Amino acid sequence: MSTQPSRIANASYQAFPPIQVTTIEAHILDQQRSHPEATGVLTSLLYDIALSAKIIAHATTRAGLIDVLGKTGLENVQGEQVARLDVLANETLIRVNSPTGRLAGMASEENADIIPIPEGYRTGPYVLLFDPLDGSSNTDYTISIGTIFGIYRRISKTGPGQIEDFLQPGRSLVAAGYVIYGNSTVFVYSTGQGVHGFTLDPGVGEFLLSHPNIRIPDPARFYSVNQGYERYWSSGVRQFTDYVQGKTGEFNGGLSMRYVGSLVADFHRNLLAGGIFYYPADSKDPDKPHGKLRLLYECAPMAYIAGQAGGYASDGKGPILDIVPTSLHQRTPFFVGNRCLVETAEAYIKRYG
Ligand code: AHG
Ligand code: MN
Ligand code: MN
Repeated sequence: MSTQPSRIANASYQAFPPIQVTTIEAHILDQQRSHPEATGVLTSLLYDIALSAKIIAHATTRAGLIDVLGKTGLENVQGEQVARLDVLANETLIRVNSPTGRLAGMASEENADIIPIPEGYRTGPYVLLFDPLDGSSNTDYTISIGTIFGIYRRISKTGPGQIEDFLQPGRSLVAAGYVIYGNSTVFVYSTGQGVHGFTLDPGVGEFLLSHPNIRIPDPARFYSVNQGYERYWSSGVRQFTDYVQGKTGEFNGGLSMRYVGSLVADFHRNLLAGGIFYYPADSKDPDKPHGKLRLLYECAPMAYIAGQAGGYASDGKGPILDIVPTSLHQRTPFFVGNRCLVETAEAYIKRYG
């Protein structure tokens, strides 16, 4: 008989992962309780977005089996190729959220103009802005993609949402978040009471609380930027990149570089591990001197989440959340992550341009 101690007896294996069985619905309702004036409309709206995310995740996880990969052959308002999954995600969000009576209108990265609530349906107190599928150039390669959203209270009083309802600074967001369709589907949101993450249990069909009270760790581990464009950057951005790599000797050992090319994936990793993501202005395309990322659909929601997790986001000069948009699809340089790193980027840009 073996004298070896039993591995099983000593193991601390758990049959179930240590995920709290708190559904996203229960969590949102719980947060609502600290706002006695709340009507429940925002709670329901967030749940509608979670439902949209489940429908999109159902398609992304079967991509390759159903006919959703590849391009449509069309260009969107940004002049970018529209992927089939872009259309599917966009239409899902629009269809789920049009008839609920919670919105005065929507705006999407994929639509040139405001998306009105169809005739015959009530309008509501909020507007919803979204990037339906972020990182969609990655869809055909089984790389993580996502959805980003921001919610504002309408400014106009009644009737269809007006442009001023949408052109609000990030400081006025009442909620924001993103969904990442990766090796699992994770929904991250904030209503101004911290940042909370939920993992979709596909068997149960529910988002369950897996990442309560996310705070960006310090010290940071990663910097994330498309360094292939370095030759198009300003001197300040190039020197800041030398700094994060530890080349200038100021940074203790430098940071590791990670770049997926899907903002949601790069942001999510840096949120959990600590780091900075940046997409600076570049001189590559003279028509796009403000970088690539869109203020309303990508940068403001991520800036809000970062701020709620103890981080910071800047356009290289000042807070993203303070920028008052002048058009729906405007772009901005974007630096987001640990506050000390983003402030250092601002200092380099101020000093070297
Ligand atoms: P989208 O797919 O919504 O157009 O966004 C793509 C964005 C963003 O997800 C990512 O950070 C960035 O484009 C990558 O751009 P580069 O390929 O220029 O690095
Ligand atoms: Mn995007
Ligand atoms: Mn997109």
